[in-house]
Amino acid sequence: MTESTGKKLWDENLPTEIRYWETQLDFLKTQGGNTPLNPWIKELFGDECGVDISILDVGPGPFAGIGTLWEGKNVKVVAVDPLADEYSALLAEHDITLQYPILQGNVENLLELFSKKRFDFVYCSNALDHSFDPLLGLSQMLEVVKPGHCVALNHRVNEAERCRYRGLHQWNFCKDDDGELLFWNKEERVVVSEVFNSKASIECFINAESDEVRAVVRKI
Ligand SMILES: C[S@@+](CC[C@H](N)C(=O)[O-])C[C@H]1O[C@@H](n2cnc3c(N)ncnc32)[C@H](O)[C@@H]1O
Repeated sequence: MTESTGKKLWDENLPTEIRYWETQLDFLKTQGGNTPLNPWIKELFGDECGVDISILDVGPGPFAGIGTLWEGKNVKVVAVDPLADEYSALLAEHDITLQYPILQGNVENLLELFSKKRFDFVYCSNALDHSFDPLLGLSQMLEVVKPGHCVALNHRVNEAERCRYRGLHQWNFCKDDDGELLFWNKEERVVVSEVFNSKASIECFINAESDEVRAVVRKI
């Protein structure tokens, strides 16, 4: 798959995402407001982090599933999604108001929206594998996170295979036999740590219960 075919496929299939969320309005009404910060993310911050925390949630869908509430902390979430305008219209139509911004943008162009080293933490769940260029996306997420801080990835294992490469599902993410985070599809196979070895250290985990691969990418 060339870069331009990948982008063309992505452009054609992006609108299918909004159709899914249109069927999830009850869920949106309960989750669209402020919810507790994901416990895994709290763990990654550890006990020593400061009070003010800035988080970028990339490809969240209509609301930041990472959550926003952490007792004693001032968590500021910003979300970025290529369907942000469509999601905002959907939420407005159903009187759902978010307490944080969802900006229009792609993981591949974060530096057009934010300065370098802007965030304490960047999170991407089940969205980088929907992007047209996950390596470019990861490099952009690393640019906007502060040195020493993390980009956390959480994705269903080998989603493109499971979805038979339909729609936006063009990339598989998994942990390989050497414990490395692998991005792959029918044409490419990338050991992610080999690409980013001078920029980040990567730890990869499998959550067997949810069949998800998690990676903690710490910027050097
Ligand atoms: C399956 S939803 C994931 C929603 C949520 N993060 C979760 O874990 O349930 C995929 C989201 O990725 C977004 N997406 C697709 N391509 C993207 C890209 N290039 N950059 C950022 N987000 C993208 C879609 O618009 C959609 O909202």
